[in-house]
Amino acid sequence: MTEIEWWEYEDAAEMAGAVAGDVQFIIESAIDARGAAVIALPGGKTPVPIYEKLSAAKLDWKRVTIVPTDERVVPLGDALSNVTMIAKAFLPKGARVMPIVPGANADYKAAGRSADALMQDLHWPLDLCLLGVGGDGHTASIFPGPDFDEALNGPKERRALGVMPEPLPPEAPVARVTLSRQGIITARALMIAVTGAGKKRVIEDAISEGAGSPYPIGRVLADAELPVDIHWAP
Ligand code: 6PG
Repeated sequence: MTEIEWWEYEDAAEMAGAVAGDVQFIIESAIDARGAAVIALPGGKTPVPIYEKLSAAKLDWKRVTIVPTDERVVPLGDALSNVTMIAKAFLPKGARVMPIVPGANADYKAAGRSADALMQDLHWPLDLCLLGVGGDGHTASIFPGPDFDEALNGPKERRALGVMPEPLPPEAPVARVTLSRQGIITARALMIAVTGAGKKRVIEDAISEGAGSPYPIGRVLADAELPVDIHWAP
């Protein structure tokens, strides 16, 4: 049974301050322990205020490597690119922000294999995986579709893979590259940050359904050995 702790806030700004503080602490601890930190951060809109607060933190950013939890198969600089959004916040601070998709025309499976190869070269497991959750229950880019089972139950050493969501999500109707469930749940710290009553309900349902959940977030968290902190604001 996964150990879940909910943290509830008045509003998104309060949540952003608290999550940024936790992430800062995790980065500092990793730098103290081994001189470097490797973290995965989500795209989407919810984390924008978190990244504003976190990027203002006094940290030795040159020692921090950031990978996206998932990327859309689009060119760097595209409005849909998660890495581009993350890079805007953290590149100016000196962090190493790693693009994981070679280009818009990449075959998504090949893009997934090359992202996995990049991640095989990183210190692993991740010091932190911060996840977002969609209103449809997806997390990172683990979606129902032809690659769902591979994302959830692929080889233990697989860190990332290509995914074709089915149906394509309307807010970003493109193929994806994502961390695998294994890459996510082996992180040393696992956190979720979401807003809104709808997502809260989806996550609560998904957790109670566990491994049999139709929601990707339920399948990802089922039997996770690590305690999971879920940060939520209305
Ligand atoms: C993606 C994101 C994704 C995100 C959720 C929530 O590329 O789709 O990384 O997993 O976390 O879709 O997005 P919002 O925060 O915008 O609702």
